[in-house]
Amino acid sequence: MTENFFAPCPRGLEGLLADELTALGAQYVKPVHGGVAFAGDWPLCWRVNLESRLATRVMWRVAERGYRSEEDIYDLAREQRWEQYFKVDRTLRIYVTAIRSPLRSLNFITLRIKDAVCDRFRDLLGARPSINTESPDVRVHAFLTAETCTLYLDTSGESLTRRGFKRAKHEAPLKENLAAGILSLSGWQPDEALLDPMCGSGTFLIEAGLMALDIPPGAERDFGFEQLKSFDPTAWQRQRTMALQRRRPASDVRLYGADIDRRATDAAGYNLRAAGLDDLVQFRTSDILDLEAPEDSGVLLCNPPYGVRLTSPTAAGERRHAEEENAEAQSELAGWYPHLGDHLKRAFPGWRCLFFSGDPALPKKIGLKASRRTPLMNGDIDCRLYEYRVVTGFNRDKPPAAKD
Ligand SMILES: C[S@@+](CC[C@H](N)C(=O)[O-])C[C@H]1O[C@@H](n2cnc3c(N)ncnc32)[C@H](O)[C@@H]1O
Repeated sequence: MTENFFAPCPRGLEGLLADELTALGAQYVKPVHGGVAFAGDWPLCWRVNLESRLATRVMWRVAERGYRSEEDIYDLAREQRWEQYFKVDRTLRIYVTAIRSPLRSLNFITLRIKDAVCDRFRDLLGARPSINTESPDVRVHAFLTAETCTLYLDTSGESLTRRGFKRAKHEAPLKENLAAGILSLSGWQPDEALLDPMCGSGTFLIEAGLMALDIPPGAERDFGFEQLKSFDPTAWQRQRTMALQRRRPASDVRLYGADIDRRATDAAGYNLRAAGLDDLVQFRTSDILDLEAPEDSGVLLCNPPYGVRLTSPTAAGERRHAEEENAEAQSELAGWYPHLGDHLKRAFPGWRCLFFSGDPALPKKIGLKASRRTPLMNGDIDCRLYEYRVVTGFNRDKPPAAKD
């Protein structure tokens, strides 16, 4: 049986996700704003949940119809055969998102969909699922446009960005699927050296390690589809085991992480250990401006802080979070980028250097010509991935910018 699915993803990654889904065996793959629609059978859905590095979740499309009022949505939800999709003893939560819906209260729509599902169960079975807003077994999503209501059953459960191992967080960690997408866009290949010189809690390094060893990102976690009646544990175990057996040896993988803040390198080390990838990475606690290239060539990839005060050469050791000092932090960053550009020219010839940033001052001030800029959203922040190819001997004779 072919089913219809929708996988949301960070905006800007739709094309890459479409390619990934096609490679996993999806059919009728159609990228749209913020995600990709596709079709396939249940085993495909499980595979996408287990193996997609880019999807935020995978939702099974239950129904879609035009609506005018809350009662139209109630009727649509009441008509669906929920009792064939999950057992009444499963806990439930309803999520509603809307773009240009004329209806006033999303809370009220949420309530009406909950009533519809529960009324249906009660009428048929004399019992209804209970609601659990913290960690529900089953999640129903309603997506409303101006005219149409689409109902989905969530096959992922918790967001697929949760890779399943514990994580220590440091300053503004990237979402895992965004980091994986940026790594794909960087063109990094597992036989190249990869350095994240501002590694924070190590998201790029973890995603790179998982990719390099061909470890499915969902190897360590549970999924929402395990709560649905369509779930076949034997077939799933077979599929999962086969995917895990693809794991490659770590022999050729060279990952390097650094950060100015020891708490960050500690957190990244902890996270890499939790993911079983700590053997792959060498860490240093260092200012990027003091960091030498660990190899003759490779890929340097990071997301510098943006709107957070930087520890600059003149303000050594000083670190203050900068919400109230945003403007100051921004101008400090603008003054710091020329030093970064000069350091890359001196210390990283032969490297491809990529910066993911929402700061328009970066490309203006870094003093290097970007070979590529790819627009991507980080949540609501409009960002770019800037690529600089640092050529051997590039501007070598020019004295570095004065450190002010
Ligand atoms: C936005 S965070 C990086 C988040 C990381 N990509 C993650 O997903 O966890 C920026 C990092 O840059 C580090 N940093 C700030 N100034 C630095 C400098 N001059 N040299 C090296 N690291 C620096 C901060 O300590 C912080 O961990």
